[in-house]
Amino acid sequence: MSEQETNGRIPLIGEKVPSFKAETTQGTINFPDDFQGKWVIFFSHPADFTPVCTTEFMTFATMQEDFKALNAELLGLSIDSTYSHIAWLRTIKEKISYKGMKDVEVMFPVISDLTMEVSKKFGMLQPGESNTQAVRAVFIIDPEAKVRAILYYPLSNGRNMDEIKRLLVAMQHSDEHKIATPANWKLGEDVIIPPPGSCGTAKDRVDKAGQDYECLDWFLCLKKCPHGTR
Ligand code: BEZ
Repeated sequence: MSEQETNGRIPLIGEKVPSFKAETTQGTINFPDDFQGKWVIFFSHPADFTPVCTTEFMTFATMQEDFKALNAELLGLSIDSTYSHIAWLRTIKEKISYKGMKDVEVMFPVISDLTMEVSKKFGMLQPGESNTQAVRAVFIIDPEAKVRAILYYPLSNGRNMDEIKRLLVAMQHSDEHKIATPANWKLGEDVIIPPPGSCGTAKDRVDKAGQDYECLDWFLCLKKCPHGTR
């Protein structure tokens, strides 16, 4: 999708992501072509060498293998140069020890968006917060390059990477098993059968409840998680 197609606005859930070419700490990338067939956690951070971002990067880097096991790649971005990214990531590896994480190597690509071209395409610059620093945005993008979830956080507060992983697992589970997941759902817990679309199916659903699923009412029926824990 081109910028014209989104008219400069944030790409919304269900839309194809805007495409771009960018320099990163791992070389040039063409997005989304280089990530075909994979989920992508595309996130922005306000600036290198800042405390909250440092804790976020260490946490993401420590979880990178978990995301890879879910067929998901991490992709970072800030309005800093590649040299600044490299210097910051080296400092993290060589000097920073935080909550039991140390010697942490950030292996995922981090985009250097000095022209702000990419951050503008994704609505990562929000002038109420800052004109020169990207807010903490997260786009979860599916293997067909469609936006599936969007999270925005302010500059002052770090994200919950466990929640990003939990949501990814939930969406993958919904896609695979055509189910929905309740509040605070974790893998292994009961899932929701999509609500019936007619009076007939509503009655049928309640009448047949028992062994395979249980209904709290006609619109809220739960069944066992199709998988155990992954
Ligand atoms: C931080 O990552 O620590 C940070 C960045 C920008 C504004 C405030 C905090």
